[in-house]
Amino acid sequence: MTWLITGGAGFIGAHVVRAMLDVGEQVVVYDDLSTGDPNRVPEGVPFVKGSTLDRDALDGTLVEFGIDGVVHLAAKKQVAESVARPLHYYRENVHGLQNLLEAVTAAGTRRFLFSSSAAVYGLPDVDLVSEDTPCVPINPYGETKLVGEWMVRAAGAAHGMATASLRYFNVAGAAGPQLADTGVFNLIPMVFEKLTEGRAPVIFGDDYATSDGTCVRDFIHVEDLASAHVTVARALGERGDGTDLTVNIGLGEGVSVREMISLIGEVTGYGPAAEPTVSARRPGDPARVVASADRMREELGWTARYDVREMVASAWEGWCLHHPEARR
Ligand SMILES: NC(=O)c1ccc[n+]([C@@H]2O[C@H](COP(=O)([O-])OP(=O)(O)OC[C@H]3O[C@@H](n4cnc5c(N)ncnc54)[C@H](O)[C@@H]3O)[C@@H](O)[C@H]2O)c1
Repeated sequence: MTWLITGGAGFIGAHVVRAMLDVGEQVVVYDDLSTGDPNRVPEGVPFVKGSTLDRDALDGTLVEFGIDGVVHLAAKKQVAESVARPLHYYRENVHGLQNLLEAVTAAGTRRFLFSSSAAVYGLPDVDLVSEDTPCVPINPYGETKLVGEWMVRAAGAAHGMATASLRYFNVAGAAGPQLADTGVFNLIPMVFEKLTEGRAPVIFGDDYATSDGTCVRDFIHVEDLASAHVTVARALGERGDGTDLTVNIGLGEGVSVREMISLIGEVTGYGPAAEPTVSARRPGDPARVVASADRMREELGWTARYDVREMVASAWEGWCLHHPEARR
């Protein structure tokens, strides 16, 4: 099959492209390079520079390459920016998706995988978040992902297209330093940045109702996330037209912020220099968000290979490539 990978020049997309190639699929990357890097696209893979807002370019690409399925990763992903610029997020993430769905349903594309997020759950008050936990997003980014899931499901049902929404938890690590995430938008790179600057990492609130008082999150290695796309794509193929799947992609293991900072201190060699300071809670941070990974494991037979230490180690290699002064 030939897959269109939107956002394939991005951090996660680059790993999905490689995972699909590894199992013998053909791929075409479609990306506007707003946050992506063309050097992440492997040699020999066709690359189209275009936006999901450009319907003509989408139509042309689907026909030119005879696209059978789409993995749609292209989106804006920063929660704080989505609060400041909500309409930009609705335009890119929702209108862009609408364009793409109109194009693929007109072209008769049979499979569609959508990058969703644990942000759809908002502030879940459960030990393990299952796919049936109510979705109550608390910021425009999470809203665009939930609306996106609805659009994908409705379009699939109406046009007999097999669809899936993959709700990623906290994505970390890299398949190699050159494929690492270069943004500083979540805990691991934020701690790397502080250590590189010779400053203490910060914990936002240590009075949550968790084992050590700090927030608990579920991290997943980006290579495992990429392999989950292959598993889901296969499942759609086996189950056929009209299938719709919603799956959490996480390890199903909680790691507290304090535990993560301590592990980063060990892995990077910063040790006691990584001793954090504690400041006030940030509004909108849930105490605990940990996936139930049962559906992926039990119904689709997927298992993650990498643990949290491997995520930190590979993310650190990538960080050091871009910040050589960081290495001790
Ligand atoms: N990184 C995470 O922890 C995480 C967690 C949950 C969900 N997600 C989702 O995964 C997807 C990929 O995230 P990422 O971390 O790789 O981000 P990224 O910014 O590295 O990748 C996004 C890619 O999409 C491209 N893009 C953005 N808007 C576009 C548009 N309108 N048209 C064409 N291309 C466009 C960018 O240039 C970039 O290459 C996103 O949909 C994001 O919301 C990411």
